[in-house]
Amino acid sequence: MKGTVPNCMQSLVIHRFGESQWKRSLAAAGLAASTDYSAQADVDDGEVLALIRGIGEANSLAPAEVMQAFGKYWSSVYAPVIYQSFYEAPKSTREFLLGLDAMHIALTRILKDVQLPRFTYEWQGENHLVMHYRSIRNMVGLMPGMVTGLGIHFGDAPKVWLEGNAVHIVFNESPAAPAPL
Ligand code: HEM
Repeated sequence: MKGTVPNCMQSLVIHRFGESQWKRSLAAAGLAASTDYSAQADVDDGEVLALIRGIGEANSLAPAEVMQAFGKYWSSVYAPVIYQSFYEAPKSTREFLLGLDAMHIALTRILKDVQLPRFTYEWQGENHLVMHYRSIRNMVGLMPGMVTGLGIHFGDAPKVWLEGNAVHIVFNESPAAPAPL
């Protein structure tokens, strides 16, 4: 997978826990102390999973807590800077998520050798969205944290939970009113 995901994990651990905890995380993951991820690199999926385990072990967090922390940091701290342009149009978590599948498709045209997840959308009520996740990977566990992070960015705190590969989101706000004629 693209180095942007482990690069974000590295930034999270260094900013939250410090450089020494990053070195300990690498050691616990069985990786060289000199490992330094660039966003452009290609990193083996197994290495990313080992890193999630290593970060957890070194910082006394369960893997699910690491994924939650990663997702929140990705959507509210890292991506708004690195991928600023994607945050310009959407005004809410709802709007961002409804554009997410198209956004990932657009990235396939820009980045070489990416295997991005795809989403289909199902409404179970005016404010209850189900996003069905499909990917060659099984990283749906990253999604609740990423959605929560969008809620932090947009300040609209949706509820989110997983049922298998279905991500349930309940929005607090009403859908945007149509623009006046
Ligand atoms: C500006 C925002 C975003 C950008 C630019 C972006 C881009 C990317 C990129 C480059 C990857 C690595 C894929 C690869 O190397 O093959 C990735 C993976 C992923 N993205 Fe996004 N993404 C964004 C937001 C989100 C959000 C908000 C979610 C979920 C709510 C999401 C869900 C995922 C998941 C689950 C993966 C892990 C890989 C997989 O499951 O196959 N992304 N994304």
